[in-house]
Amino acid sequence: MAMTRRGFLAAPPALAAMALMPSPLLAAVAAQTPALPDLSDWEAVRAQFTLDPAYMHFASFFIASHPAPVRDAIEGYRRAIDANPFLVIERGLFEDEAHNVPLQVQTEIADYLGGRAADVCLTPNTTTGLALVYHGLPLTPGDEVLCTTHDHYSHHESIRLATERAGASMRKIPLFTDAATASTDSLVDALLAGIGPKTRVVGLTWVHSASGIRLPIRELAAALRARRGPPLLLVVDGVHGLGSTDETVAELGCDYFCAGTHKWMFAPRGTGLVWANAENWARLSPTVPSFSDFDQYDAWEKGTAPASPTNANRVSPGGFVAYDHQWATAAAFRMHRQMGRARVAARIRALNDQCKAGLAENRKVKLHTPMPGELSAGLVAFEVEGLSPAQVVKQLLARNIIASTSPYAVTYARLAPSLVNTPEQVERAVRAVREVSG
Ligand SMILES: Cc1ncc(COP(=O)(O)O)c(C=O)c1O
Repeated sequence: MAMTRRGFLAAPPALAAMALMPSPLLAAVAAQTPALPDLSDWEAVRAQFTLDPAYMHFASFFIASHPAPVRDAIEGYRRAIDANPFLVIERGLFEDEAHNVPLQVQTEIADYLGGRAADVCLTPNTTTGLALVYHGLPLTPGDEVLCTTHDHYSHHESIRLATERAGASMRKIPLFTDAATASTDSLVDALLAGIGPKTRVVGLTWVHSASGIRLPIRELAAALRARRGPPLLLVVDGVHGLGSTDETVAELGCDYFCAGTHKWMFAPRGTGLVWANAENWARLSPTVPSFSDFDQYDAWEKGTAPASPTNANRVSPGGFVAYDHQWATAAAFRMHRQMGRARVAARIRALNDQCKAGLAENRKVKLHTPMPGELSAGLVAFEVEGLSPAQVVKQLLARNIIASTSPYAVTYARLAPSLVNTPEQVERAVRAVREVSG
């Protein structure tokens, strides 16, 4: 439950009377915010971004450029907060549920994830979500967290810090030697073979930013559930699958799903989420005092600890945040709903299929991303014979193509065709790689 009424109860009489009215400030913000534009064709979608037209942007997954509906929502909230910081924030956070803005954001996100608003924890990014989950787990000495050699720095370090604190251990296993030739069966076999007698938690990454492989999380989660032995909790870093695939996150089968929303979802920079069901939230110990859980605040006032089970809001890190950004997250999810999850995924897949097929024709290129669309999403990782990944990226940049290198011990060049790109741009990027490879 969102924290409610506290601000109202604490307010002086004149304010209290105003608080009984429908939230006029937030209604004014809504009135200032333009309706969603027509997003029925991809040129209209591309027109929402103010990306520098001098470049072709193939690294948009790194951090979002805000599209117009998100910019407008941020601007509306910013203006309202700048005009009335106390009234807008106090009411937006603490008024009744009908006017609680974070709850509206959680509701919008839950609609996209296929879950309940109460299961959505708002965070500033993927990294914080992973850290909150691993530090919150009831790990004890002797427990092991199993993850893979392919996970991101933020994931590995969240596990290392949490296991060190708990006296538990971590172990990393490879799920493949060459992502490009992995299959669902080989991935399931490798994961099951890696589980040891002390394993209590498994950490996986949905779409890998190292190789571009998309793990079949449903199948892996089902295999973990079906095996004999103590039940395991599955934590997923889902940041590069959310907003690029047509999946219902709440049905993937994982226990904790952590993602930033400031990459593929185009939500404001500095926004993210963790999704879990009520039973899994109840397992966690919160790390940071919450500003959105009434029971915690109420218990503090009484000098006790909260008696109710941990919930998503209690794990959401408190302290004031950039509310103009956090609240505008809803606009990004509305934009995705209007574009249609299946349509978005099909477009990203078509552009990535085209990119992979084009690169595969180049004998000097080694693709690290699997060709099948079921085992990949919006990232294409590759190497060019005779050139380091950094040299490839530099030479593409000299042709006004923004690519990136993967920030891992073993690094590759990456092109990430997304909604801001066109088939013509993908063709030009493939041609540029051909020129670069000589
Ligand atoms: C797989 C993966 N996980 C986590 C992160 C960190 O994301 P955030 O900036 O949302 O914490 C990244 C960054 O791109 C990533 O590639």
